[in-house]
Amino acid sequence: MSTGPHLLDLEPGNYYFCACGRSRNLPYCDGSHQGSAVQPFVVAVSEPQNVAICACGRSATRPYCDGSHKADAGH
Ligand code: FES
Repeated sequence: MSTGPHLLDLEPGNYYFCACGRSRNLPYCDGSHQGSAVQPFVVAVSEPQNVAICACGRSATRPYCDGSHKADAGH
């Protein structure tokens, strides 16, 4: 089953996106990675923008979606 990205409107600021998949506030990091070797993705936004954040964990350009979730279909 494919999982589409999180579509977000981001205002300027720093964002921490979950890389471990354990956050209860996906796609944002909630600190649940602590105790593991995984660190969140840090994104600095300088002007308002729309982003697609990977939700399937397969993107080669995480934290951004690269369309890899579509490969789930038919497999
Ligand atoms: S909770 Fe997943 S990287 Fe922080």
